[in-house]
Amino acid sequence: MKKYITTPIYYTNGAPHIGHAYTTILADVFKKFEQMKGNDVFFSTGTDEHGQKNQHTCEAAGLPIDVFLEKQSGLFQAVFDRMGIDYDYFVRTSGEPHKEVVRSILTDLYDRGMIIKKSYEGLYCEGCEQFKKESDLDENGLCPDHKKAPKLILEENYFFRLEPYREWLREYIQLHPDWIKPQNYAKEVLKMLEEPLDDLCISRPKSRVWLGIELPFDKDFVTYIWFDALINYISTLKFGSNPDFNSYWANSYHLLAKDILKPHCIYWPIMLKAIGIEPVGKCIVHGYWIGEGGVKMSKSLGNVVDPNEVIDMMGVEPLRFYLINAMSISSDSPISISLLKQGYKQLANALGNLQMRVIKMVDKNLQGEIPSDVSLLAEDMEVLESVSKSFADVYKKDIDLETAIELSDCIMQACNKLNMYFANNEPWGLVKDETKMERFKQVVYTTLDALRLIATAIYPLMPNVAHSILKSLSADNEKLTAEFNPKALGVGKVIVPDPLFPYLG
Ligand code: MSP
Repeated sequence: MKKYITTPIYYTNGAPHIGHAYTTILADVFKKFEQMKGNDVFFSTGTDEHGQKNQHTCEAAGLPIDVFLEKQSGLFQAVFDRMGIDYDYFVRTSGEPHKEVVRSILTDLYDRGMIIKKSYEGLYCEGCEQFKKESDLDENGLCPDHKKAPKLILEENYFFRLEPYREWLREYIQLHPDWIKPQNYAKEVLKMLEEPLDDLCISRPKSRVWLGIELPFDKDFVTYIWFDALINYISTLKFGSNPDFNSYWANSYHLLAKDILKPHCIYWPIMLKAIGIEPVGKCIVHGYWIGEGGVKMSKSLGNVVDPNEVIDMMGVEPLRFYLINAMSISSDSPISISLLKQGYKQLANALGNLQMRVIKMVDKNLQGEIPSDVSLLAEDMEVLESVSKSFADVYKKDIDLETAIELSDCIMQACNKLNMYFANNEPWGLVKDETKMERFKQVVYTTLDALRLIATAIYPLMPNVAHSILKSLSADNEKLTAEFNPKALGVGKVIVPDPLFPYLG
């Protein structure tokens, strides 16, 4: 089956931080998860390169716009490449293929009378690149996300009417309870839809914003950044010319944080409806990583955790695992270097140490030979079967925030169960008694086979760790699939590995 997974496209007015890294890692985890189930996944990410925020940062940097955008977009590509993100397409909204699709959609909607010109006065938050209502602001009249007062702006602009679609969208959300997940965000959107929707201002006069896609029907205006950016999700799939468009779109997933719920769950489905396309398959929404100061980490607030710094310290894969495991389902989650270190130590204790101990035991006492001809006791089979079943059950689930968290929880539980089994059976004692050699072999085989299952299940989260474990079990040529058969580790020799998670200090 074809599947399409997207991340938001990130503003180029600053360097990527852990928040951007998270959504992109989540998408990569989902891609690998689906590939293990045999699905054909197209995964897109990219940068949002227009609008006032990017324009102001470019002006302050004193660089030509192309140089600025290329440099800033490159920061995102570089960190995603460093994190091993296997995206299929990196969209840049300043690129011609994207602009062409935006222009053709604007022309079509304008020709059908769905875009009108009028003057408008409103409060504008540059951080959000959105007009705000009084009710969107905090008690001090500031944007709650950017802690800045919006500016009062009076302008002539082009508008797209949202209100005629409000009832349709409400009904759609009610009829598709899994469309926005977790469901608390669906409730939030339904709440927004209780009030009539203002017309969406889809242009900006060039006198104020020059960085954008010129309206095909008025050269004095550029396209509003959100109208332009949302279209990336279909320009990336080459809407209008790709014969596979429908099959990818039918199983499509937008990943985003709650900051951009409204554009994704109100503007975008309505834009699509007007264009004649069904809403995206599912919107997977997550909360914020909360940095120092107990507030959302963001470039404008300067409280960000730099992914490059974390990777230098602990490597990419422990970071991936931590981020997936530590995000809570429907609220925000704290992040700091010391929390990341704690997560690293847990992995080292639960997985790295066990792998090293059992492999060294086999190396020393069985000349490295995996004792695959032993018959196991019921107690051993119970460990293997329960671990296999827990993985098989998670892999049956659809892409969802809960699924990602559950997968990482399941792996930690399997490691804990296996550590307990190993400790209770005391193989270091068994090996000293000739009459208990058979039991020793059963225990180490069970442990090695369970490690093989864990390595397979962990692949979407930590692909290199998965391969290293399999290699240490001489099982690296196994195809990684979502089949978890117990007692399938064949003959071969273990290879004493380098530590998976070296001591951090
Ligand atoms: N350019 C728009 C998105 C357009 S999509 C058509 C934008 N860009 S952004 O650079 O601000 O990125 C926002 C997204 O980055 C969030 O929705 C989330 O995916 C990720 N995150 C940014 N900060 C985050 C946290 N502090 N915590 C979790 N995710 C965060 O909005």
